[in-house]
Amino acid sequence: MKGKKILLGVTGGIAAYKAAELVRLLVKADLRVEVAMTESATWFVGPLTFETLSGNKVITRTFGRAETPRDHIRCGQDSDLIIIAPATANIIGKIAHGIGDDFLSTCLLAATAKILLCPAMNDRMFLNPAVQDNLDLLKKRGVLVMAPDSGDLACGSDGPGRLPDPADILERALILLSEPDLAGLKVMVTAGPTTEHMDPVRFITNRSSGKMGYALARAAVQRGAEVVLISGPTTLKPPTGITFCPINTAQEMKAAVLDHRSGCHIIIKAAAVSDYRPKETFDQKLKKGAATLSLEMVRNPDILALLGETKKDHPSILVGFAAETENLLQNAQKKINAKHLDMIVANDVSRKDAGFQTDTNAVKIIYGDGRVEDLPLMAKIDVAHLILDRAKALKDNIS
Ligand code: CTP
Repeated sequence: MKGKKILLGVTGGIAAYKAAELVRLLVKADLRVEVAMTESATWFVGPLTFETLSGNKVITRTFGRAETPRDHIRCGQDSDLIIIAPATANIIGKIAHGIGDDFLSTCLLAATAKILLCPAMNDRMFLNPAVQDNLDLLKKRGVLVMAPDSGDLACGSDGPGRLPDPADILERALILLSEPDLAGLKVMVTAGPTTEHMDPVRFITNRSSGKMGYALARAAVQRGAEVVLISGPTTLKPPTGITFCPINTAQEMKAAVLDHRSGCHIIIKAAAVSDYRPKETFDQKLKKGAATLSLEMVRNPDILALLGETKKDHPSILVGFAAETENLLQNAQKKINAKHLDMIVANDVSRKDAGFQTDTNAVKIIYGDGRVEDLPLMAKIDVAHLILDRAKALKDNIS
């Protein structure tokens, strides 16, 4: 994935300003980006913005001093993916009907790379039968079209026509660029904390942000898996293309896990499940009274242990997480045996740069046979890919 090349075509709509953020995200994802702008796009955003963000010269003309005469052939053929964002009704019509009257449209005529089109325009324009027919024609020819978002438009209208969030376009691009080595596999991931309610306004929870679990779900869907993400409350946006099941309590998580368990090849329990819940949940807000308050707690079900106990009837690779503040290896090893896991990812959550709420993680992977793999500090998305690599290898070994 790293180092793959994207040609980003920017056409003349107000959403061109969002394409600048897309370039930033693509570059951050270690992709090489070359930008081609139509002349009208340059009225909205100056090429210098894209040049600065991509680190490459922006192409605006088919022939000229700055461009080599063959760029309109090369660009669409040495790219791994072409993204047109925003795509105006004009460029959509030109691609559909084979018109090449500027750099971008000419380049698309000679392109061999996959094309991801992100239409953005006024809602009536988008819904115009001519534009819709052109989009249908392009889809039939294998062009990928990302549906625009609906809502407030810059022209004052309200409806379909907004350029999708650049983060969502990036996500779609990463899926298109990835090797689908998990295609045909169903992967369930749990993420985030659980909340255990005392009364309508108070609950007990923990510091889990859900970042590791969401990274796992994102990495798995990028690699072609069917993904179910069961998540406690977080501030994160679920990845696109997955089945998302939001829950609050451990009991709700247990019900959702059992509901979706059937047919899972890999189950990864990254959630920080609350081991206890208040014995009683009060219907009304508890009022203060005495100087101290004791809250009686009862044990929550251990969901992962339950999956381990019933593994014979539902064979799948079971991956646990061990959040520890001391005796990392010994505690993780106990959990792998007690819960019948294939592997456990041990996290020292007392570290500042790893564990809860951080974007990086440093973990040890411990296997059922006692092997330990010590991974250096890395981005959670990279940890996620490594965990999936290891889980897939275990799955391939037993099948
Ligand atoms: N887990 C679970 N259900 C629970 C508690 C934990 O499914 N009620 C899962 C977690 O999702 C994680 C693994 O079990 O994958 C280990 O969780 P952790 O909180 O580290 O340990 P516990 O088993 O709860 O043990 P302890 O809190 O005593 O360390």
